[in-house]
Amino acid sequence: MAGRIPQSFINELLARVDIVDVIERRISLKKTGKNYSACCPFHNEKTPSFSVSPDKQFYYCFGCGVSGNALSFIMEYEGQEFVAAIEDLAQSMGMEIPRESFSGGNHHSNDNLYALMDKALLYYQDQLKNSKAAKEAIQYLKNRGLSGEIAKTYGIGYAPEGWQNLSEIKTESKSHQQDLVDTGMMIKNDKGHTYDRFRDRIMFPIRNRRGQTIGFGGRIIDQGEPKYLNSPETKLFHKGQELYGLYEMRKQLRNIDHILIVEGYMDVVALAQFGIFNATATLGTATSSEHLQTLFRICSKVVFCFDGDKAGRAAALRALQNALPLMKDAREIRMMFLPDGEDPDTMVRKIGAEEFNQQVDSSITLFDFLIQHLTSQVDMTTFEGPARLVHIAKPFTEAIKDSILKTRFDQKLASLAGLSEKQYSQATQYSQSQKKQEITTDLTKEFGSPEQEVKPIKIQGKAPFRRAISLLLQNPDSLPAAKLDWINQLDEPGAMIFSKLVVLVNKNEAVTTGMLIENWRGEPEEKHLKALALADLIISKEQIPAELADILNRLEKELIIDEWDRLIAKSKSQPLSPEEKNSLKSLQKEMLLRG
Ligand code: UTP
Ligand code: MN
Repeated sequence: MAGRIPQSFINELLARVDIVDVIERRISLKKTGKNYSACCPFHNEKTPSFSVSPDKQFYYCFGCGVSGNALSFIMEYEGQEFVAAIEDLAQSMGMEIPRESFSGGNHHSNDNLYALMDKALLYYQDQLKNSKAAKEAIQYLKNRGLSGEIAKTYGIGYAPEGWQNLSEIKTESKSHQQDLVDTGMMIKNDKGHTYDRFRDRIMFPIRNRRGQTIGFGGRIIDQGEPKYLNSPETKLFHKGQELYGLYEMRKQLRNIDHILIVEGYMDVVALAQFGIFNATATLGTATSSEHLQTLFRICSKVVFCFDGDKAGRAAALRALQNALPLMKDAREIRMMFLPDGEDPDTMVRKIGAEEFNQQVDSSITLFDFLIQHLTSQVDMTTFEGPARLVHIAKPFTEAIKDSILKTRFDQKLASLAGLSEKQYSQATQYSQSQKKQEITTDLTKEFGSPEQEVKPIKIQGKAPFRRAISLLLQNPDSLPAAKLDWINQLDEPGAMIFSKLVVLVNKNEAVTTGMLIENWRGEPEEKHLKALALADLIISKEQIPAELADILNRLEKELIIDEWDRLIAKSKSQPLSPEEKNSLKSLQKEMLLRG
C-alpha cells in the first residue's frame, strides 16, 4: 500500500537470509553432500528429487522442474503474493522494509490528500442532512430500507448538482486545486478546466483499514447510466487491494467468526441494516488473492455470496482458482449461491437476518463445490467420463499447495475415477515421469549432456555470453578485477545481462545465485537465467575464475579488433578525425599488449 519496495532492500534481504533455514522451517530437509534434499513439496513423489543448494541459495526439483530462491519458495509454498512474502521474510530477519514513495524518490507524504478526502466526506454528509436538494436522495435511501443510523455508520452522503462544489470547500493545503485532481474528486479536461466528478449522486465513502477515506462510489438516484461512478486509481486508492465495508465491520464487531464477500455497496449496507455487519465487497473487481490474504489475516473463514445465475457460477470458478493455493490449516472457504435474480440486499429483506444466516451456515465448502463442478462437467455414467474427470481436474490439483488437502483430493479423484489409490498414483506418476523426461532432454539440448562432454563447452560464434553468464551467476566470487565497462558497447542481449550482473556483484555484499536472479523476477530473461544457474559447468570450482577471465579477455580483444578494422576500412575512403586517429593508436597499443 505504501509504495514500492526498493530492489536494493530485496537484494540485501536475500543476502542475509539462508534458504536452508527458510525451507527447513516448512519442510524437513536431509543433508546430502553439499546440498540438502527432500520429497518435493510441489508435486507428489516417494523418492526425494527436491534439492536445495546453500551455496547458490537456490532450490531445484529434478522431478517437476520448479526452481527459485528463498522468496520464490515462500510465494510458492505459502501461496503468498510477492510483497507479502517479502514482509514475511523481512519480519523473520527483524528487518524493516523501507518504501519508495509513489512519485519515485520524492518523499512528500499524502497527508494533504487524506485531509481533502476527509473534508469531502464531511461536505457530502452535511449536504445529505441539510440541503434541500437532498430530499430525493433521502427518500430513495428510505425506500431502500436504510435508517439514518446506518447511513451514518457507513458515512453515506450526497453530492449535489453543480460543477465546482468541491473547489469551494476549505482546506489548509496550498495545492487545493491540484489535490482535487490527484484524488480523482475533480476531472481535468483537455482544455485544462476542472470540474466535479460526482454530481447529483448518493455517495458511499471507501475507507482504508485506518478509517481514512480513500475513494468514493457514487450511485445515481433511481435509474440512469452509469449506475455507479467510482473514484479512479489514485495515490490513495488501489481498487485491487481495497474492500468496501471492512473498516466498518471491524469497528462494529469485536469477534469476527467469518466474513461474507458480496458484490455491491448496497449489499454491504443492507446486510448491516439487518444487523449482519460482517460483509465486505470488492470494488467491481474479482476477488484477488491479495483480497483473500487480507481477510485471512482477520479470520480464518470466508464465505462468498454469488448470484445463482450463469455469471455467478463463472465468478465462483474464478474465485475458486484464486483461493485454492491459499487453502491450508484452519482456513475455510464456502460458497453461497442465491436464487436467480436476487442479491444479498434483496434476499435479506425478503427472508430476514436469521434465515439468511442459516443459509450462510449451510453453504457448500470450497472443495465440495469443486468436486460438484468437476463431476458436472463429465458424464459419469460413461466409460470415459471418470477418466476425463482426472484430466480436467489437473489445473485445480496443481493449484492446491497444502499437502493434506492435496492428498485427500487425490484420494477423492481416485475413487471417483474408479481407480485404487495405487493405480491412480501410478497413472498420474506416469504422466509426471514423462514430464521429467521432457525437462531433462530440454536441459541436455541447452547445455549438452554431462557424460558426453568432459571438456568445457567451446565458445562458439555469438554465444560466449551464455557461458560467461552461467559461470558468473553460479560463482559470483569469480569476477575478475579488470575494468569491464567495454561490455556496454556490445549490442547483444547477453552482453546487457552480463553487464547488469557485474554491477550487482560489485554493488552488493554476500552475493548469491538466488539473489542475482531475483533482479529479473517476472522478466522474460528470468527463465533463461534459471536454466543457466542450474547448468552443469563441468569444470571444477578452482578453474572457474580463470575461464571467466579468459572468455572476457577474448571478447574484449574481439571488440578491439572489430573497432580497429572499422577505422582502417574507414580511413581508406575518407580522412579520419583527430579523435579517430587517437583511438586507432590506443587500439593498436592494446592489441600489442594482448599479443
Ligand atoms: P450491482 O449492480 O449488483 O450493484 O453491482 P448493487 O450494489 O446491487 O446496486 P443496487 O442494489 O442496484 O443499488 C455490484 C457492484 O459493481 C460495481 C459497484 O461496486 C457495485 O456495487 N458497479 C456496478 C460499478 O462500479 N458501476 C456500475 O455501473 C455498476
Ligand atoms: Mn443490488
